[in-house]
Amino acid sequence: MHMKANLTLVESKDIVALAAVFAVTASFAAVTTPPPSSSLEISRATGTNVASVKIADSYDHVWVLQSSSNLTTWTDVEALKIHNGSFFRAFTKDATKPNLFFRAFYDSTRQNIFSVTTNALLLPTTSFNYAAPVLPAAFSVNPILGQDTTPATNITTDLGATLGRVLFYDKRLSTNQTVSCSSCHQREHGFSDPRKFSVGFNGGLTGRNSMGLSNARWYLRRHFFWDERANTLEDQVLQPIQNATEMGMTLDALTNRLAAEPFYTNLFATTFGSTAVTSDRISRALAQFVRSIVSTRSKYDTGVSNNFANFTAEENLGRQIFLGQVGNPRATCAACHGTDNFTPGPALNNNGLEFPFVDLGVGGITGNPGDNGKFKSPSLRNIELTGPYMHDGRFTTLEQVVEFYNSGVVDNPNLSPPLRTPPGQPPGALRLNLTTQQKAALVAFLKTLTDPNLATDAKFADPFNYGN
Ligand code: HEC
Ligand code: HEC
Repeated sequence: MHMKANLTLVESKDIVALAAVFAVTASFAAVTTPPPSSSLEISRATGTNVASVKIADSYDHVWVLQSSSNLTTWTDVEALKIHNGSFFRAFTKDATKPNLFFRAFYDSTRQNIFSVTTNALLLPTTSFNYAAPVLPAAFSVNPILGQDTTPATNITTDLGATLGRVLFYDKRLSTNQTVSCSSCHQREHGFSDPRKFSVGFNGGLTGRNSMGLSNARWYLRRHFFWDERANTLEDQVLQPIQNATEMGMTLDALTNRLAAEPFYTNLFATTFGSTAVTSDRISRALAQFVRSIVSTRSKYDTGVSNNFANFTAEENLGRQIFLGQVGNPRATCAACHGTDNFTPGPALNNNGLEFPFVDLGVGGITGNPGDNGKFKSPSLRNIELTGPYMHDGRFTTLEQVVEFYNSGVVDNPNLSPPLRTPPGQPPGALRLNLTTQQKAALVAFLKTLTDPNLATDAKFADPFNYGN
């Protein structure tokens, strides 16, 4: 949004009031029009709300904030360097200055503040622990141990994942600096996107639903994306950057852009031993951060350690249904969403969403008709947070997912065996015949996989300094 070039004044009595100047004025010859696609919002104090200044500027310019008590003489309060596109600051009432006005503007001659580690980022003095998170016992033995996708050539370090975290939240990774990885992988949504399809840098929509990233580190088949088109996570993380809809960048443009930021050369040097910004290093750091998004503190995890004494009767019933211990016929969820990480084993699966296939999935990559309609299933951890569900985001709620498995699985040539009728019955898609109570129990169980720490743990937070 581009705001009009005029003077907006807000009157004040005994509150802090704010005003905004956007253009050249007689008293400020140096003041120029704001950079394109920026916006400024200055709000006055009302009631108990403090006054505030809010700036959106995707190219991270310096803005000058000034105050005045008479609207004639203005003095600098601060030169504000915008980081990662936005700035916000709230001002509390100052009883000694009952009539105080503020204005902020862009001045092309005052752009000499640069993004350095100390102003651009809010990093802890001692790195967070990414390299050795505390894992439940089941993660240190097979089968989960053998599903770890960490290559010997890119072991996660605290510094590497820290750099990866900065990159993950940085909008510089998209060509017009409007979209970061975190735009489509939002941590309060299990690092997925609540929108059916995500919106890229230029307003275009992705072809599939975003995937939750918690515990993506463990996947036996190693590949990434719904159709498994990336062979490794190191390959995967560079693809959205170069995708024409998602971020629209080239790796050359990105390495040049990052190399121009002092805080990046600093981070690359502390992480990799020299200031060189290369796409290989970007890939390694991003992959390390994604692998560090480990979620192991759910109600389910507590249950594992106390024989599920912390579960309600309903949650325990749901768990038994999920494991195929009760029901007629038995549900087979765990056959494809197995282990304490709730990920598939060696098989590539079709779960009968539709036939004919609208999206060929893995078949579209391998060209093998037997792979048509088959998709990766990401870990079900935090599934409550990652809706909508399936590669096309067709289901809004877990209730709809459960009803689909109960009564809606579509028979097709590639339907995986666990979702077919058992031997001795007429061939077709399995129908679970769950009661209303059993369906609710299955949903209740799926919600025990939610780890509230994912959204609150500082080590996964956006590290940029937005001004307050
Ligand atoms: C515009 C939205 C968007 C942006 C930006 C984006 N992603 Fe994604 N991401 C998606 C979508 C959609 C998928 C699934 C696409 C598919 O499978 O075809 C996905 C899939 C993934 C996967 C695969 C997970 C798995 O288990 O296989 C990973 C990992 C991932 N993204 C990481 C990242 C990283 C790192 C960045 C930043 C460099 C990023 N994404 C930027 C939307 C986005
Ligand atoms: C034959 C293997 C198989 C079985 C059995 C199975 N699933 Fe799935 N599940 C999949 C596949 C494959 C996907 C991804 C499908 C897609 O998006 O096209 C999936 C996706 C899901 C999703 C959505 C994941 C996401 O991130 O959007 C949920 C939730 C789910 N399954 C729950 C269950 C439950 C509950 C059961 C038991 C009633 C079950 N599944 C049984 C293979 C299976």
